[in-house]
Amino acid sequence: MSGNDEKRAAAEKAALLVEPGMKVGLGTGSTAALLVDALGRRWTEGLRFLAVATSEATHRQAEALGIRLATLDEEPTLDLTIDGADEIGPGLALVKGGGGALLREKLVAAASGRMVVIADASKRVATLGRFPLPIEIMPFGAETTRRRVASLLEAEAGRPVDLSLRAGKDGAPFVTDGQHWILDAALGRIADPARLAGSLKSVLGVVEHGLFVDMAEAALIGTPDGVMEETR
Ligand code: A5P
Repeated sequence: MSGNDEKRAAAEKAALLVEPGMKVGLGTGSTAALLVDALGRRWTEGLRFLAVATSEATHRQAEALGIRLATLDEEPTLDLTIDGADEIGPGLALVKGGGGALLREKLVAAASGRMVVIADASKRVATLGRFPLPIEIMPFGAETTRRRVASLLEAEAGRPVDLSLRAGKDGAPFVTDGQHWILDAALGRIADPARLAGSLKSVLGVVEHGLFVDMAEAALIGTPDGVMEETR
């Protein structure tokens, strides 16, 4: 089974969690896109639910499939959010934001009674941090924020940490849906995700970071032997 088959199997299993009348948060990324496709098929078959998208890209995809959409302000309480992840660690702590949607993903997940993560087996790791941690920052004074984040991460890691401003296709800074920029931190290993999450939140200029701790309740992970479910 390829990674894409694993993603698809997880996404299709997760699509079965959506029941008539539910309010559902739709994640962002390649795995979430497979979920939205599967939900589009269920919509065509007559399932009716209300969706809130975690990105403009997901909103456009769901809209094209005819799925009924609302904003998070119109529907501030959701039943379920299903989203991908860049890494899934112990306790279902996650690194997210590889696609740049971490802020809306976190806002939507936090508004949901339940968050379920979908992924292929490569995303399951013993320790978070091999995937660079996305940190969303204000463009204004970005260099001052980068320096504050760099010194925090150096103190945490005990060594300088490579911190790069994410570039878009044209080489200019990548701009999120919220009009912010992203720093990617090559930490290698995150020993204490909860502590780092708290420290990053207190840095002036940081809008959000890609650590999702105590948010996912379950993970559906596609593997060569089928979809495995993990719960927190
Ligand atoms: C988007 O910002 C991310 O948080 C994605 O959920 C994450 O990058 C997973 O994406 P894939 O499903 O494409 O690997």
